[in-house]
Amino acid sequence: MGARSLLVLSLLCVWGAVRAEDTSDGYKAPEFCRKSECPKYQLVKKYDTFELRAYEATKWITTPLEVDVFGIGIYKSFRRLSDYINGENSEGLTIKMTVPVRIYIPFITPPAKNATMSLFVPSALENPPLPKSTDVHLESFPPISVYVKSFGGYAMNSDYEKKAKILSKELTDLALQFDNTFGTAAAYNDPLTFFKRHNEVWFTAQ
Ligand SMILES: *[C@@H]1O[C@H](CO)[C@@H](O)[C@H](O)[C@H]1NC(C)=O
Repeated sequence: MGARSLLVLSLLCVWGAVRAEDTSDGYKAPEFCRKSECPKYQLVKKYDTFELRAYEATKWITTPLEVDVFGIGIYKSFRRLSDYINGENSEGLTIKMTVPVRIYIPFITPPAKNATMSLFVPSALENPPLPKSTDVHLESFPPISVYVKSFGGYAMNSDYEKKAKILSKELTDLALQFDNTFGTAAAYNDPLTFFKRHNEVWFTAQ
């Protein structure tokens, strides 16, 4: 075994040992959030291939997303959000990167052009600074319940689409009520994270 693969192995071990820290109220963040803050939820029910979660109220910064074949829209939108957390806001405040990156895709006919990409605003930031870019805005979400299907690996648009189709069928087969007018993709890792990657598709429960 070469030195390089040994290094990778030891990195993997260190990574495996990193656990999300307990917060003061005893809430234990799920392992897939790693060291980043992610929105709090209660696991309501675990099904064979998906689960139902109840999320607390959350705030997000959101920007329009152009859905294209080449994924250029993804980079443009992510750039606007990362500019916001890197200080392009009314207070020049630098905000720690959170997870997940949430992508909202409408599923209606005729196709709506209002897909968006969002970043979760850390819960400690009760009054988030205003975005400087007119293409970025703050959003408040009430508590919501979502059906979630998780999967690993590097996810492309088509993977999220495939999983969303499967989840939609599973929910329909079990006669579970959900909003089928849009789907949500949640991405938890940057492209340089090679192991134990975590991705999700969500449908809002009704
Ligand atoms: C996106 O557009 C569709 C169709 O106009 C609308 O029903 C939906 O509520 C919009 N979504 C958001 C988040 O504004």
